[in-house]
Amino acid sequence: MQLIYFNQVFQKNLKILLTFLQTWYDLLFSNYSRVLEEDAIVPKSVNYHFTRKCNYECGFCFHTAKTSYLLELEDAKVGLRLLKDAGMEKINFSGGEPFLINRGEHLGKMVQFCKEDLGLPSVSIVSNGSLIHEKWFKKYGRFVDILAVSCDSFHEETNKAIGRGQGQKSHLDKLHKVRNWCLQYDVLFKINTVVNTYNYDEDMSEEIERLNPIRWKVFQCLLIDGENAGETALRNAEQFYIEDNMFDKFIESHQHVKCLVPESNKHMQNSYLILDEYMRFLDCTRGGKEPSKSILDVGVNNALKFSGFDEAMFKKRGGFYKWSKADSALSW
Ligand SMILES: C[S@@+](CC[C@H](N)C(=O)[O-])C[C@H]1O[C@@H](n2cnc3c(N)ncnc32)[C@H](O)[C@@H]1O
Ligand code: SF4
Repeated sequence: MQLIYFNQVFQKNLKILLTFLQTWYDLLFSNYSRVLEEDAIVPKSVNYHFTRKCNYECGFCFHTAKTSYLLELEDAKVGLRLLKDAGMEKINFSGGEPFLINRGEHLGKMVQFCKEDLGLPSVSIVSNGSLIHEKWFKKYGRFVDILAVSCDSFHEETNKAIGRGQGQKSHLDKLHKVRNWCLQYDVLFKINTVVNTYNYDEDMSEEIERLNPIRWKVFQCLLIDGENAGETALRNAEQFYIEDNMFDKFIESHQHVKCLVPESNKHMQNSYLILDEYMRFLDCTRGGKEPSKSILDVGVNNALKFSGFDEAMFKKRGGFYKWSKADSALSW
């Protein structure tokens, strides 16, 4: 009788103990996985500088021709798919000059792959504009959401003095042509400007309003060790550098331009996920660009641990914006 009673009490207590342990296990385990999820960086928006070669010579350039390396197209596609699987929604192709390789065919095939095969919501390009032709828009325009063309002045001599030009060709004529093709081929048009010692007092309002880009990104000239500053650098951008107060003044005097999006050094430095020509993330947190291992060798998540990406700053500078043509149909 006593044995049966003991058995019943034991079983009841065991059940309580098991329930207690299970609850704690659930709590601890689910919290732990939540912490892991919160800590992991999701590479929603990636800037792929697939070439460092360029036909321009902007004196302040912070992504210089330190190598002439180019990944095979098929390898680049493998990497792009890995990024998509890790959560990428927006890819921005940059350089060097992205239209330089194989007359824009390499870039064209990548944008087509990202839109058609990967179905990315947003595919964009940043270019100096000089090598873009209408033929390219006809063939690949439908795979591109946003095309940004960089322009640092509306005076041809200033662009030339900066190095934003090639020979006698007019940078500004090409800017207008590309803008019109964007309208014609349904690509959102954007302008990037770097504020520096050569243009800090220029009033660009009228020209920008006439061109009417969806966004006008205005950067403070940034110095990066080993790129445009320091002994090993190919460029020395110190003569282009302006202090925060001069940058703020430029922004204030253009405040009425609705599409203006300012980006000071503080906002810019670590708020981009930058992938270089080997598909390595570049960490700018220590003033230079320190590469991770390639995502093709160690996978996206391992490479991301060395990216130096500041997600909070990405959100603060408005990194998530309406970034595809589909969104824009609703808002512009
Ligand atoms: C490195 S470029 C590559 C794409 C293309 N060649 C172009 O100039 O647009 C990408 C963007 O970075 C900007 N940029 C280059 N050097 C910079 C610097 N030192 N500080 C801030 N932005 C810079 C360029 O003006 C351009 O808008
Ligand atoms: S910023 Fe100027 S030099 Fe640098 S990649 Fe762009 S066009 Fe070339």
